[in-house]
Amino acid sequence: MLKKVTLSLGAAALALMFASPVLAAGTAPVPPMGWNPWNAFGTGVTEERILAVADTLKKSGLADAGYRYVNMDDGWWLKRRADGRIVVRTSIFPSAATPDGNTSLRPFTDHLHAMGLKAGLYTDIGRNACSQAWGGKTAANLPEGSTAEREIGSYGHQAQDMKLIFGEWRFDYIKVDACGPADFQPAKAFVKDGTYRALGPWIVRGKPNARDNARIENLYASLDAAIAAVRPRRDYVFSICSWGEAGVQAWGYKRGNLWRTSEDINAHWKSMLDNFDSAAGHPETVGPGHWNDPDMLEIGNGDFDADHLTEARAHMSMWAVIAAPLLLGSDVTKWPQSLIDIAGNREVIAIDQDPAGHPGKIVSRAGDTEVVAKPLADGSRAVALINRGSGAVTASVTLKQLGFDGAVTVRDVWAHSDATPVYDGITVSLAAHETKLLRVGKTQ
Ligand code: GLA
Repeated sequence: MLKKVTLSLGAAALALMFASPVLAAGTAPVPPMGWNPWNAFGTGVTEERILAVADTLKKSGLADAGYRYVNMDDGWWLKRRADGRIVVRTSIFPSAATPDGNTSLRPFTDHLHAMGLKAGLYTDIGRNACSQAWGGKTAANLPEGSTAEREIGSYGHQAQDMKLIFGEWRFDYIKVDACGPADFQPAKAFVKDGTYRALGPWIVRGKPNARDNARIENLYASLDAAIAAVRPRRDYVFSICSWGEAGVQAWGYKRGNLWRTSEDINAHWKSMLDNFDSAAGHPETVGPGHWNDPDMLEIGNGDFDADHLTEARAHMSMWAVIAAPLLLGSDVTKWPQSLIDIAGNREVIAIDQDPAGHPGKIVSRAGDTEVVAKPLADGSRAVALINRGSGAVTASVTLKQLGFDGAVTVRDVWAHSDATPVYDGITVSLAAHETKLLRVGKTQ
């Protein structure tokens, strides 16, 4: 009898475990969409530039298409005051100046909220930010003052900072970097000369065995708990930025809504492919609320600018088919209609934002061609046929490989073509760097 009770309790507990969503981090039932200034402006960001982008998102229709989070990255802070409160750099954020000298980003978030947009901010789990490690002495908008005043990261100030950012300032999103515990080790010249205090290192770039993954996971978990204490409804997005380090693939889904899977992207074709691979190869923990983040989009920049629309479409297709966050990283105020049409293609966005939240999975890869497919809520499949190389190729996939056992219809979501019936397989010709993104569904 006793054994039976134990068994059924065990079964109930197990059922509960699998039925309930992981209660951690904020809310992101579909991959977050928006804009981040880093790829366009680095730390040389200003309130004026951000609000100009926000206006463009509204007027171009991109906000209506889903790009609603307007996020700040590194560079917004001036210093940490003796009482621990962060002071905003009012020379670049004039609306943050207050008569009592406290500084507040509330006018900024109020402005974005009044536009129907959402607001995101940036911090670090360590004492210092990435620009302080990597920007040399000359990067724009580095924190100022004494060593202690320049400690603008959340380490040791988690509750105070999250109360300020999510309580007082009402932000909706936070990206949390990890340079603090990675790049301020005792041997660094800027630590030895007293510019910054040593921390860790608990992430040693490129040395997996020297990492303290549990400590990094705990720092993210406690920061999320500090936000939840202010916003118990968890109406925020928590973005982990440890660049695929610290074993984040094993725990990111429990601690954040999205987690970076790689080093920073840059506006080169190869970098885009590398970042795509870092996420496409790890579909395991992707699902509603929890997304691999191969980094912000480079559409509009470098190899993906208005002279490279094939590459821009490919980049967009690849992020969409693996349900990656769509965070624009370019100065959209300068975009021609051709780029707005690419980022704003509603059929492509619908694939990324599909409510079932399935990851894309690699179906095949041969030479420069790759096929990735993502099951969609209506029973159809998004299929990306990718040419990674710089010569023309032919790519094929059978219906069996896609999991269909009868005829299907195929719609090209870039060409907005009519759905054509197909009976055995799909073969397409692809120009250099071209991706075709198809919506493949069972014939009615
Ligand atoms: C890191 C992140 C980038 C950006 C910079 C800011 O490198 O990975 O996305 O936030 O820091 O300094």
